[in-house]
Amino acid sequence: MHLTDNDKRDIVKLIESGKPLPDKYRFLLFDDKREVELVWNGKTNEVCNVVLPFQVIEQVDEPRKETEKEQVSLFDFDDRGRQIKGWTNKLIWGDNKLILSSLKNGPLREQIEEQGGIKLIYIDPPFDVGADFSMDIEIGEGDDAETFRKEANVLEELAYRDTWGKGADSFIAMIFERLSLMRDLLVEDGSIYVHCDYRVSSYMRLVLDELFGKENHQNEIIWHFIKGASGNDRFGRKHQTIFWYTKSKERYIFNRKEVGVAYNPETIARAQRGEARYNVTAEELEERGKNPGDVWSDLHPVQGNAIENTGYATQKPEAFLERIIKASSNEGDVIADFFAGSGTTFAVAEKLGRKWIGSDLGKFAIHTTRKRMIGVQRQFRNENIPYRAFEILNLGKYERQHYIGVNPNLADKDKQKMIEEREHEFLALILGAYKAEEVTGFRTMHGKKNARMVIVGPVNLPVSRHFVESVLAECIEKKMTKVDILGFEFEMGLFPNIQEEAKEKGIDLALKYIPRDVFDKRAIEKNQVVFHDVSYIEVKPHVKGKSVTVELTDFSVFYTQDAVDYVAAQLKNGKSKITVDKGQIIKVTKDKDGIVERTVLTQKWTDWIDYWAVDFDFENKKEIIRVKVENPKQQTLEGKLSDPQTEMPEYEERWTGDYIFENEWQSFRTKKNRTLELKSIAHEYEKKGRYKIAVKVVDIFGNDTMKVISILI
Ligand SMILES: C[S@@+](CC[C@H](N)C(=O)[O-])C[C@H]1O[C@@H](n2cnc3c(N)ncnc32)[C@H](O)[C@@H]1O
Repeated sequence: MHLTDNDKRDIVKLIESGKPLPDKYRFLLFDDKREVELVWNGKTNEVCNVVLPFQVIEQVDEPRKETEKEQVSLFDFDDRGRQIKGWTNKLIWGDNKLILSSLKNGPLREQIEEQGGIKLIYIDPPFDVGADFSMDIEIGEGDDAETFRKEANVLEELAYRDTWGKGADSFIAMIFERLSLMRDLLVEDGSIYVHCDYRVSSYMRLVLDELFGKENHQNEIIWHFIKGASGNDRFGRKHQTIFWYTKSKERYIFNRKEVGVAYNPETIARAQRGEARYNVTAEELEERGKNPGDVWSDLHPVQGNAIENTGYATQKPEAFLERIIKASSNEGDVIADFFAGSGTTFAVAEKLGRKWIGSDLGKFAIHTTRKRMIGVQRQFRNENIPYRAFEILNLGKYERQHYIGVNPNLADKDKQKMIEEREHEFLALILGAYKAEEVTGFRTMHGKKNARMVIVGPVNLPVSRHFVESVLAECIEKKMTKVDILGFEFEMGLFPNIQEEAKEKGIDLALKYIPRDVFDKRAIEKNQVVFHDVSYIEVKPHVKGKSVTVELTDFSVFYTQDAVDYVAAQLKNGKSKITVDKGQIIKVTKDKDGIVERTVLTQKWTDWIDYWAVDFDFENKKEIIRVKVENPKQQTLEGKLSDPQTEMPEYEERWTGDYIFENEWQSFRTKKNRTLELKSIAHEYEKKGRYKIAVKVVDIFGNDTMKVISILI
């Protein structure tokens, strides 16, 4: 170390007085001197290692036709034509940091390794600040259809603030940690493709060099397109960048033959005349095609009227993913995308006979992907092509600290203190807006409003069944009979069962949404914050012998995005805006003289519905999670993971008390087809008995509600 005595004294003094060291010591104190390195504020190699259990909340599997069931097929089916064995594709809802860490360190890893591990990852992270969380949503059918812009919800906004709030360094820190987890999940001959644009490509390249090694950088692909205005301030920005890295330098997949594009007719003609530059025939050239090179100008962004267009703002074209998947994977391989958006990667993976797994934080993205993949299943069923079932999963609980935004570099004691302070501020804010008084001395209860106890759900995650159950336990213990639970989101499939369970225990349980404007001081001051109830569904079963048809008869929601008066006050003359106020979508128009007109767009209750599905035998499939057994017997995982010394954790299966919603029939709107059927097909039960039918409705914002009814056959 080249430190002088003065340097040493200085360093000790600075450390003792708790001051930061000057930059020059960075290069004098540490022995790992990289040639070039990207450094950012807070850089650390510490990677999340939390393991949370995955919960399957839904299984989607279009029943197969008799003909396909009879075929000797890849999978086994039950008597309803549904897959019961083999790999099921996975769509996971939640923050990919926790998902990746739970995949890497948890029990699902084994299942993935059994399928040969993840061979290819494509990601398209949200480099376009904010574009992913606000969405254009269509309302209604035919000529009356209107488009409404949905703004980000609170969870999305918090995630967004986490990524972008503090500038480029927070984006790099976010992506560095996730890419590091992805690298560990990739198999030795695996590949990763990272999609970005001029805003982050320079950082991304250095981050990838550091994590995967410069020698494993295979291509910097330029996707050049024509779409979009050019402006007059600079040259038009007409490309995006995709970095391809492999895990190993020697062993990776590149299916050159699969990705060849047509040669120029002149080249073929030359070969036919025997004048080719190399010794090849025209047939050979035609068969293998030309290497497309690393500038892709032949693939166009998704056009407005394309069949594949889902309406998702950042959707990438299928042809683009097709080239990547064909080049760097083989049939039967597992492909992953952890920033899934509208699910382009999965749609193409399924079409090319690959298995898939992936995630997205946005509910709307999960919903868009669900519809898209059902579309693929339906198409395959009609064409007699085998397809796999897929599951929608989420994580049981999230790390509150992560969202509350406590500085991770603080000492543990200070961190804990800061978390408590932040949590207290948050509770006071919500209770104030709900006009409840704070109470102390309870395990789960936070406030009181008239005769009802008030509980505030976590800021960072949906209110889960486990959360509600601990509230109910305290209610019973302390003889409380009326409670309100306020939450930003509720776990999919939670209600109304949980309310009925509470009722059986003598507790009147109300679940209410915390509106996003609680964070807006002005809204609180003006008394504009409305906590609305969860949505309401009405269904009617039509029973004939052993056959049942389910009819959807009513649905309502109680959202508010911006109060109409507020929108009207903000509007300029001659402009209009669509807003959601107390469960109605309203178009507010101000004419040139400032006269305001309001038109309600949601005229029918069906206008709110984007999708509904039926599970005719809800209690048929229990939700089982695998949880780690504490202090397992020591064992090694010979050969399964790359490190043979790794201790194999033991897992046990546990029933969560919930059931998996099996999507047996559904009707939904697409961009092309806006009509919705309100009556299901007739379902034939094999045996007489009592059955629970579950009906799930997803509204046009991507929020879902479920109702369970009981029938006697
Ligand atoms: C650019 S879009 C992906 C579009 C996609 N390639 C397609 O073709 O539709 C990025 C996606 O990342 C999701 N996202 C952002 N942060 C995330 C996070 N921390 N975890 C999981 N998904 C995230 C957003 O919800 C968004 O859908």
